[in-house]
Amino acid sequence: MRANAPVYFDEERNAYDVFSYEDVQRVLSDYANFSSQRQGEELTSQSIINMDPPKHMKYRQLVAQAFTPKAIDALAPRISEIAKELLDEVADQPEFDIIRDFSYPLPVIVIAEMLGVPNQDREKFKHWSDIVVKGVDFEAGETIEQNLALRHTVTQELGAYFAEVIQSRAIEPKNDLITALLAAEVDGEKLTVPELLGFAFLLLVAGNETTTNLIGNTMQSLLEHPEIWEHLVREPGLLPSAIEEGLRFRSPAQSMNRFTTQEVEIGGVVIPAGAEVIAWIGSANRDDAKFVKAEQFVIDRSPNPHIAFGNGPHFCLGAPLARLEGRIAMQALIERFPQMKLKQDAKLSIGLSPIVSGLKRLPV
Ligand code: HEM
Repeated sequence: MRANAPVYFDEERNAYDVFSYEDVQRVLSDYANFSSQRQGEELTSQSIINMDPPKHMKYRQLVAQAFTPKAIDALAPRISEIAKELLDEVADQPEFDIIRDFSYPLPVIVIAEMLGVPNQDREKFKHWSDIVVKGVDFEAGETIEQNLALRHTVTQELGAYFAEVIQSRAIEPKNDLITALLAAEVDGEKLTVPELLGFAFLLLVAGNETTTNLIGNTMQSLLEHPEIWEHLVREPGLLPSAIEEGLRFRSPAQSMNRFTTQEVEIGGVVIPAGAEVIAWIGSANRDDAKFVKAEQFVIDRSPNPHIAFGNGPHFCLGAPLARLEGRIAMQALIERFPQMKLKQDAKLSIGLSPIVSGLKRLPV
């Protein structure tokens, strides 16, 4: 598509697909022409991912303090502990599933602790967050309508749950993100409860499955080539660049959408005002006009200007956290199971979401 139709009108979806690195970068950052704003009933419609500057910046600054590299680095000891506990549970087994047993629970526990979800509610929270982010499970016979109905119910339950947590922090502040957001102000005004809910909900939706897939996708790429895995085990100093390559090669967030504010030309195609535009990050990150050997997984690639975390004002707020979780998780796997191999004949089935991309299971 990059070579033959870099900007393509998809009639079925009634949206314009954009595939090249340069154009995807522009769609993500040129908010005057490609807006993130949308109306809707979902809780995330109140959140920064769906706002344009200048409003976006004011709100983003509030939550950004909790996500600075310094604040995130302070979480490292606790993330290592969680990774260790999860691997302790499978250490005696002849095989385990990297996704189910490790990369799926890890980010949920981390974000739950950051938000201040008490231990006894962890299972409930994990169940809700799984349903909120998961796509339609066609394999299990689920229909799109059933999935929408289930997500609607769970969104209500989760909203009611967060509303309770917010209320209790208002009475008794704690050292967590919800308490910090309650104290935060925009232009001298406190956030409203729907705004607070929007934030909490966004962190859940944006940060969990993507991080699960960062670990899962990178491990898949490594284990499919045992000699690359062995190279990394011998030289663990390559881990940060291997993670960047994992983000590029199998990008966890494959696409993001925008809406044109006026008629605009991109890649030689004129798009009318009010049209939906889909920026294909996964395609941009394999563009051979930008990357040498774009179709190869090269763990010491340098430089690696991938845009897996987006580009411009909406650049992923959780990138330092995702990178830290990825590094700690994979370091733990390398140290514990240096001889790890993909399970022979394992059927690797990929989730069906057009946005978030990753395997459902990775048995080793
Ligand atoms: C935004 C990817 C992990 C929180 C984004 C965007 C991308 C992205 C592509 C840009 C959206 C847009 O342009 O419309 C990823 C990937 C991750 C990851 C690939 C893991 C590998 C996380 C984590 C968190 C997080 C762990 C927090 C817990 C956010 C937030 C935004 C965002 C709040 C919205 C920022 C804004 O609108 O200003 N992410 N993300 N992400 N991400 Fe992430």
